[in-house]
Amino acid sequence: MRVDRGRPISGRLSPFTDPRVHGEALKNLTPVKNVNVTFSSTCHLHRCINSPKSLLDKAPRDCHSTRLLIDSILIEEQKAIIDHIGDGLMVLARGGIVRHANTVAGRILGIDPVKAIGRPLEELIDFEPIIGPIFSTGMGNVDRELIIDSPARHLHLLDTAIPITNACGRVVSVVNTFREFKRIRKIVGKYAGNHARYTFENIVGKSAGLLDAVASARKAARGSANLLLSGESGVGKEMFAQAIHNDSERQGHLFIAINCAALPHDLIESELFGHAPGSFTGATREGQPGKFESADGGTVFLDEISKLPLDVQAKLLRVLQEREVTRLGDTRGIQIDVRIICASNRDLQAMVRENAFRADLYYRCNVIDIAIPPLRQRQDDIPVLTSFFVAKYAALLRKNIYGFTPSAMQQMSGYVWPGNVRELENFIERMINLSEDATISDVSSLSRGMPTPDAVVDGVREGASSQVVSLAEAERRAIEEALRSCAFNMTRCAAVLAVSKPALYAKLKRHGIHLRRTLQ
Ligand SMILES: Nc1ncnc2c1ncn2[C@@H]1O[C@H](COP(=O)(O)OP(=O)(O)OP(=O)(O)O)[C@@H](O)[C@H]1O
Ligand SMILES: [Mg+2]
Repeated sequence: MRVDRGRPISGRLSPFTDPRVHGEALKNLTPVKNVNVTFSSTCHLHRCINSPKSLLDKAPRDCHSTRLLIDSILIEEQKAIIDHIGDGLMVLARGGIVRHANTVAGRILGIDPVKAIGRPLEELIDFEPIIGPIFSTGMGNVDRELIIDSPARHLHLLDTAIPITNACGRVVSVVNTFREFKRIRKIVGKYAGNHARYTFENIVGKSAGLLDAVASARKAARGSANLLLSGESGVGKEMFAQAIHNDSERQGHLFIAINCAALPHDLIESELFGHAPGSFTGATREGQPGKFESADGGTVFLDEISKLPLDVQAKLLRVLQEREVTRLGDTRGIQIDVRIICASNRDLQAMVRENAFRADLYYRCNVIDIAIPPLRQRQDDIPVLTSFFVAKYAALLRKNIYGFTPSAMQQMSGYVWPGNVRELENFIERMINLSEDATISDVSSLSRGMPTPDAVVDGVREGASSQVVSLAEAERRAIEEALRSCAFNMTRCAAVLAVSKPALYAKLKRHGIHLRRTLQ
């Protein structure tokens, strides 16, 4: 059989599928009489089947029944093999008559594979079979993408159809194998980086704040509720999202991360929801599934969700409510099963109050809310993260560097780390690159951000430089910085912030700042 992309493909009738050879054998699936060879046990029978040729060679020439028995067993075995292939498989005779359909084909096409045998395929499905022309042209195809939209179903398949010719070169049947496109996407997605690398074991840290967040995330992983991960830039939101996916029952499926801030406004809808063929200038001819459709069965991570335009927020809300997407330029909804994990480094609640984010979407995304504290609030993590990153980059750069001196560590622990773990990691990578000593002592490049008497102002400025935040968020950060730089002395803290102590306590309550947690 010749299999060649874009050229006629044909095969010869196999002796096993030729009805002239096996028509008789198929009739003899009932116990065969007059068998001259006896099988002493099931094992013996299996041994014979495993080497039918030797048995046939040994069998007397007139032992027709024995041959038929072995043939029929082999046919049964072939049927079982075909049924256990992961792809849909159908053999169609001229006139589109179904000669064979396996279970997967039945499931994909919504037909009963047993009852289908002997009937024309077009009577069984509600769209036109694509196999018909192959009988006249003799042209098969390999790995053709098919999108079939019939009233009853939406099929997206990768299809291979191979004509089988007889001795005269006439196409007598077509062997059609197909698999759902989502399987292809899963494989492609995996190798294109659409998979989650991190697990909870990769999340380094021992502070109470981090352990609290990890415990909540582990619990959330067991369910399927939408999640909101909040925290400043670089605290590890994406790491958490990946770990949740990998700990959930969706871990065998895709994890697709979408940075809402990085998508151009005019493409964002088609990226998320897909488009119908030729639905807009630049759209592909065949149409394209969006990220939600592609992630079917898996998780979609919507990073920086606060950057989603309001009109797209409305559409996203529909997807979350209806659990179906409608491609751009299409009217039919496609059912999807995805878990949404959103992340934001902005105060979404404040944005809702300012009408910059839809309240209904906020509540949909925020079924479970996990707040990852900034690094400056989990100082216990700094030494363990430092050891982890020193080991990682020393090994990567093949340097014998083992850590920082105690005084350097002390300075690092006092630093504000506005860029959080990402900044710590980058800092350590830079230090390992530059250092020639086994122990790093000079961390003066950090001094710009070290807490000074003006630490509060510095801290807020550092935070503000990385992103514009709401006034409420700026106030919360100012209070946190003041608490830290004043070592949680409330009188000094109130003085630094120029408010009375009762007012400071009221603000702590309003912002949900727990002294017990920040004091660890
Ligand atoms: N607890 C942790 N243990 C080990 N590495 C961490 C931890 N937290 C964060 N990191 C590392 O810090 C970097 C930033 O993490 P991540 O991208 O998850 O942050 P983010 O909160 O999503 O940031 P952004 O808001 O900027 O997208 C990554 O390289 C990640 O591996
Ligand atoms: Mg991120």
